[in-house]
Amino acid sequence: MDDHTSKARRAWLRAGVLLPLAQVALAATPSEAAITSGLSSAPVPVSAAMPAPPAGVSPEALAQNRQYWASVAAQYDMDDRVVLLDNGFWGSMARPVLEAYQDHTAKVNRGNSWYARTDFPGDYKAALQRTAAALGVSPDEIVFTRGATEALQALISGYRHLGSGDTVLYADVDYDSMIDAMRWLKQRRGVDVATINLPEPATHESVIACYAKALDQHPRLKLLLLTHVNHRNGMVLPVAQIASMARARGVDVIVDTAHGFGQLDMRIPDLQADFVGINLHKWIGAPVGVGAVYIKRGRVQDIDPYMGQPESNSIYPRVHTGTANFAAFMTLPLALELHGQVGVANKQARLRLLRNRWVEPARKIAGIEILASSDPQLTSAIASFRLKGRTSLAENIALSKRLLEEHGIFTVYRDGLASGSCVRVTPSVFTPESDMDKLVVALHKIAASA
Ligand SMILES: Cc1ncc(COP(=O)(O)O)c(C=O)c1O
Repeated sequence: MDDHTSKARRAWLRAGVLLPLAQVALAATPSEAAITSGLSSAPVPVSAAMPAPPAGVSPEALAQNRQYWASVAAQYDMDDRVVLLDNGFWGSMARPVLEAYQDHTAKVNRGNSWYARTDFPGDYKAALQRTAAALGVSPDEIVFTRGATEALQALISGYRHLGSGDTVLYADVDYDSMIDAMRWLKQRRGVDVATINLPEPATHESVIACYAKALDQHPRLKLLLLTHVNHRNGMVLPVAQIASMARARGVDVIVDTAHGFGQLDMRIPDLQADFVGINLHKWIGAPVGVGAVYIKRGRVQDIDPYMGQPESNSIYPRVHTGTANFAAFMTLPLALELHGQVGVANKQARLRLLRNRWVEPARKIAGIEILASSDPQLTSAIASFRLKGRTSLAENIALSKRLLEEHGIFTVYRDGLASGSCVRVTPSVFTPESDMDKLVVALHKIAASA
């Protein structure tokens, strides 16, 4: 932080001007925070840690250990009136995380601005450091947001190197709000917006070939949006490979890993991308309202400070959440801790088992079309289906409604794929195998009567 900026920030702080949450939190020096509220976060007592996986068992073997996963599921209080197979929206908190969140909320409420202006900076910094360690990046390479949307909008709208005649590119699998932001670049920066449709069924090679062709076809391409795990059919994109092809042609990549980090056994540098939007309330099980922007060290000047925030070498002015949910950020370290206790590789293997438990039998049902690659490299917890030939949104809204009303199974319809609409199925770590079996039974009945 340069001298001028840090002086200006202190002045604003003294004047009580509203600053981005991260700046408020991180600009506080020990002298500014000298009068502490006495409410500082003692580490939250972990009354109930997650059950430890048995030693020496591979993720694939553990995935089949029903007793272990039942003990994990016992840490969640879930409504049992439906079979919940839409766990891609956000991830429920395990009970100890929920309890810590409730405690933090009470503390913030009690202390009000006394807490927020004195002890919160330390809590924020601790959360940032813990999160950076989990992401495998340096704390100065991330800033918190309220979710992946805010993170990616800041990156897409702030990317500086676009002008008339340049091209940006997105795919049919990308997330709706990010597609909107990429399209908006036409008005905002005068770029041409190119699109591709990913192959179906996809293989690792066919997906790479699709992006390679697009890179060849658009010599003025400057910016590429990649969705690590998409929310429509759950395909895992070989991001690192595509990003390095792009880099070789001078194309920058923004990666949406809303569904990747926390679900897949990976860390941010594995993506080989300089700009990444992250979600921490989907697969980590943190409270709703936490995400992060990652900007690789040395690239921060390539993203505009958010709407007139002061220029600096820091990542913080790239985002402005306004006053956000203090307690959600305070709960993050515990959520990450519990996530790590089960282990992301174990979670990934378990989720894959649950996904395959419905996808593979359903592939054999005449009349059902599965929109999920059989290439294990492209496999996530998320997969989708439709009745063969029924590609309209209305038909798929009706299909998910039927699953709920006739079988008590809660899913969600999705549209936007070039091949048409579908119904998305997403188990979680607390989902028992029997729930996937109920879905297969339901699909048999629905297909037979369609
Ligand atoms: C692929 C993808 N990207 C981004 C988002 C946005 O996340 P959030 O709503 O938490 O900002 C989602 C949400 O479902 C998503 O599925």
